Parts: sequence; C-alpha cells; structure tokens
Amino acid sequence: MSTTILGIESSCDDTSAAVITDGILRSNVIASQKVHEQYGGVVPELASRAHQQNILPVVSEALRQAGIKASDLDAIAYTRGPGLLGSLLVGTSFAKGMAIGLDIPTIDVNHLHGHVLSHFIKESEDQEVPEFPFICLLISGGNSQIILVRSPFDMDILGSTIDDAAGEAFDKCAKVMGLPYPGGPHIDRLASEGNPDAYRFAKPHIPGLDYSFSGLKTSFLYTIRDNLKTDPDFIENRKADLAASLQKTIIDILLDKLSKAVKESKVNAIAIGGGVSANSGVRSAIESFCRRHGLKAWIPKRSFTTDNAAMVAIAGYFKYLKGEFCPLELPPYSKVEV
Ligand code: KG4
Repeated sequence: MSTTILGIESSCDDTSAAVITDGILRSNVIASQKVHEQYGGVVPELASRAHQQNILPVVSEALRQAGIKASDLDAIAYTRGPGLLGSLLVGTSFAKGMAIGLDIPTIDVNHLHGHVLSHFIKESEDQEVPEFPFICLLISGGNSQIILVRSPFDMDILGSTIDDAAGEAFDKCAKVMGLPYPGGPHIDRLASEGNPDAYRFAKPHIPGLDYSFSGLKTSFLYTIRDNLKTDPDFIENRKADLAASLQKTIIDILLDKLSKAVKESKVNAIAIGGGVSANSGVRSAIESFCRRHGLKAWIPKRSFTTDNAAMVAIAGYFKYLKGEFCPLELPPYSKVEV
C-alpha cells in the first residue's frame, strides 16, 4: 500500500503545498509574496493576509499537478514553527480543517528539520540520499546552525549564531548598498563580476562552533562610510568588488567553524540547506572543501533551498512511518531550536 502526504508550508513569506507518495515528489507549488519588496523586509501582517489569499489555490494546484484528489491523501503535514505566528496560523488552521474534513491525521513539522531533511526528497526511485550520520550546515535568513544529523529524528545543534544569521548578513549589507530585498541573490549575482580580495572585513573570534556575523556587518558599514567621504559614487563604482569581498568573508566564516565541526564529529558527509545554500559561492566552496577532505557533499537543488512544502512533506513522511501524528489542538510556535 502506498502512502501519500500533503505538505503545507506558511512560516514566513512563501505559501507552499507539495504532494509526496512513498518519499517521491509528485508536486511542489510555491507562491512567493512580492508585496514585501517595497518595505525592504517581510511585513508580518501583510504576509498573513497573502497566505490567506494563496493557500487554497496553492493546495488545489499541488493536488492537480500530482494528479490526485484530496480523498487520496493519507495525512497532512504542516509547518508548526518556528516562523511568524500569523503566517503559521494560516497554514496550521488550513491543515487541521482539511484533515478534519477528510478524517485523516495531521503531522506537525519543525521547519528547520524540514530544511535538513530536504536532501531526502526523491524525484525518482533511484535517486541517492545521504547516509547517517552527516553534518548539515543550515543557513537561512533566520538561522545559521551546524547540526549533527544521526537520523530523521535525532539531530544535535553543534553550533549556532549568537547574533545575526548568514542570510541577515547578506540582506543587511545589501540594504546598505541600496539593493532590493532580499539582498542575498543580488550579492550573489554581483559577486561573480567582482574581486573577492578587494576589501577585507572583520571576522569573528569566538570560541567553539558558534557563529557571529554582526562584526562583519559593522565593518562593512564602516568601509562604505569611510569611502563615501572621498567618493560619493563609491557604492555604484565598486559594487561588484564589495559584493565579492562580502560573500568571500561570509564563506570563510562559515567554513572555519564547519571544518572544526567535521574534525570533532568525524562524519564523512556534509549537507547544506536553507536559503543561503542557494548562493553560488557557498555551493562551490562546500564542494571544493569536501573534495579536499574526502567528504561527500550534499548540495540541494535551488528550488529546495528556500521555503518549500516538499521538505515539510518529506519530514512528515518520516513521522508517518513511525506513526507520529499530532493532536488537533497543538498550537503553532514562533521560536524553537532543532
Ligand atoms: O530559508 P529562507 O528562504 O528563509 C528564511 O529563513 O527567511 O532564507 C532566506 C534567506 C535570505 O536572507 C536571502 O537573502 C538568502 O536566503 N538567499 C541568498 C541567496 N538566495 C537566498 N543568500 C545569498 N545568495 C543567494 N543566492
């Protein structure tokens, strides 16, 4: 007998629904919210309203693309947190209402577990997936974590950011350069045309495996401020070099702690996940780091790096196999670690 799971994701500013049957992806529909661009960041109230408008068409389209009816579903997995509470309420309430209507169980998914488990989304029967244990570098707009993954249910955070996340470092520095939100993809594009050694920015010196990106942000700001005094067109003239140097510094910071974590935990594979894992520089740096150290690198497809329901559906599928369903009264939560 096959198992078909609907995944629903609404933790931030992407409304997404996906269908997975026996671990194989059948559809993954994402409606991104453009409304936030003009404000330079996600506006929670606008995000909730857009989710409310998008959720029904997105779920219907995911079922249509999968070629199934709602009555073919065995369970509904939804992101319970962490994220914006108003946004989460839309997805969780929709999932619960639909599950009651269909008389099938709901499965709550930790969004961060979803990012880690996105490497197990199969698009064909013979697709390879990671073997346990491995280390996952989870880098997004809200998190920067090094996670030791022993099984889909057994994950330990070895290190986390103590201030900004890697994605925030990209976005905040991009904002200073006058780039649109989110700035990460713009920095990525500009960096490919610039000199990564043009500028040196501060790197943190904190013990252990934790990250810090706030010093980098400040030193980026000071570099711009000092140069603007002599050249009012400094940003415009040097934007590619600034982007390339910023990206290189972020990658150096990420790899410094990652290499320590690999030595300490003796795993032989590294996976990356979260929005920042879409970055071209990060992807090639991880690949060459793994090649140099004889490790297997797991680099996700770009469509699975940002928020998507396929990762929620696969995390839900693992829980389904263990019979881990959740009661309907479970509320969403805004903050939690892995
Ligand atoms: O995982 P995600 O979609 O959700 C949040 O945690 O919010 O990550 C979004 C983050 C943003 O900071 C965005 O700038 C960053 O991922 N991002 C990138 C790239 N694509 C998305 N950062 C650098 N390079 C990219 N290509």
